[in-house]
Amino acid sequence: MTMTQSRAADARSYLFNDHTVEGYRHAVAAGSARVADRVGRTDRPFSGVGPARLAPDIAAIDLERPLHDHAAALDELERVYLRDAVYFHHPRYLAHLNCPVVIPALLGEVVLSAVNSSLDTWDQSAGGTLIERRLVDWTAGRIGFGPAADGVFTSGGTQSNLQALFLAREEARAAGTPLSRLRVITSEAGHFSVRKAATLLGLGPEAVVAVETDAERRMRPGGLARELDRCRRAGLTVMAVAATAGTTDFGSIDPLPEIARLCAAAGVWLHVDAAYGCGLLVSRRRRHLLDGIERADSVTVDFHKSFFQPVSSSALLVRDGAALRHAAHHADYLNPLRMAERGIPNQVDKSLQTTRRFDALKLWLTLRVMGADAVGELFDQVVDLAAEAHAMLAADPRFEVVTRSALSTLVFRYLPPEGPGRELADDANLYAREALAASGEAVVAGTTVDGRHHLKLTLLNPETTRDDVAYVLDLLAGHAQRHVDDLAPLAGHREVTHVHS
Ligand SMILES: Cc1ncc(COP(=O)(O)O)c(C=O)c1O
Repeated sequence: MTMTQSRAADARSYLFNDHTVEGYRHAVAAGSARVADRVGRTDRPFSGVGPARLAPDIAAIDLERPLHDHAAALDELERVYLRDAVYFHHPRYLAHLNCPVVIPALLGEVVLSAVNSSLDTWDQSAGGTLIERRLVDWTAGRIGFGPAADGVFTSGGTQSNLQALFLAREEARAAGTPLSRLRVITSEAGHFSVRKAATLLGLGPEAVVAVETDAERRMRPGGLARELDRCRRAGLTVMAVAATAGTTDFGSIDPLPEIARLCAAAGVWLHVDAAYGCGLLVSRRRRHLLDGIERADSVTVDFHKSFFQPVSSSALLVRDGAALRHAAHHADYLNPLRMAERGIPNQVDKSLQTTRRFDALKLWLTLRVMGADAVGELFDQVVDLAAEAHAMLAADPRFEVVTRSALSTLVFRYLPPEGPGRELADDANLYAREALAASGEAVVAGTTVDGRHHLKLTLLNPETTRDDVAYVLDLLAGHAQRHVDDLAPLAGHREVTHVHS
């Protein structure tokens, strides 16, 4: 064998095929053993590492010198990734909308990446396409849409919201309205992806109008009615109202029945961003909180937020499947019109993506192994915990809590005792969050409310207990008060200190 032939044979040994199944078995088993070992040993959600410490290790790896060995690559990965990763399964990871994941979905991940179906066309996926379509129908059924409903899986809530607004824009354009006269109404607490989508869709900077929220951070229907009226009188076309079922910070659910009534009366497309709140679709105790969602024209659901699915897993559902035609393009090489005419199910006809992962398989195995009720039960548990944690916070004089979430977030701030330290509250809350992350004991999020820095817990882990929450609150109060004590003597000419690691 020549050198070239031997190099080629060596390179081919890495391909996954009928000759290499043993190697595949070993590699995947070694990978899952490594992850299991790491997860079995994690006693905190994060090591507290900072980019300055980790970046040189990653930069030092010579990508031109392969290791030619899975075990050696995993050893290296342990050092540059697994050791310091942020672990969402840990009960004191309380920061963003990342859920722990269920094992049936991880099984789906193994299968879908190895078979590697691409869900753009039937001829690249076969049964995968039909499974996705069943799940689209299932989700539409849970929403309460009728038989005309349709949808497609997407990479996440951002993409689902973009596609929803794209469909709404195309519907408005069909009526001949110029882009500059189109408006989108959302609430002050709506997700930023709505604004981003408007920009991508060529709407002007003033195109997204944010209606005020009530004390519980829900869109005020009165404000919406006024805005719809103002736009009408100004000769502007509201192409969509984007309501939110589960706002990112406050877990609030906009009053969907009233909003749906106003949209119907004004003939405006109603989009419901249920990226976070979609878990209620399978809740046996709280499904009613989504009442009115069935009157939406489009709905975003993020299974990777409240269905305990690994990233990515999201979908856009529409009440009238015909609206998806705006996303269709028939390419000769891929999905020519004659295929659609013959009823061949090519999901690319409905999607903004072309090549697309079979993410639906994870949800499929989740429903087939544990069932929808079990998923809903997990979500209900975190909503229960959030209600308890809210009561704890409200009774705790160290903290001030903004509002009670309909879902599982808590936005609050440490309030230094009356005195000169009070004015350091903003710095103290910022500091406490950083110090906590640097310690690795817990990870919490932060946000700004009415210009003031706040702390945020997003409870998505049914393993998190009341005691975990109490422990984290004590740690936060300790860090915040230490910062106040350090800075109070300097108040007036102080500098904000930051935690570095
Ligand atoms: C209400 C809401 N909509 C949309 C998104 C965007 O979803 P994704 O991160 O999956 O793109 C988020 C993310 O947090 C969200 O909270």
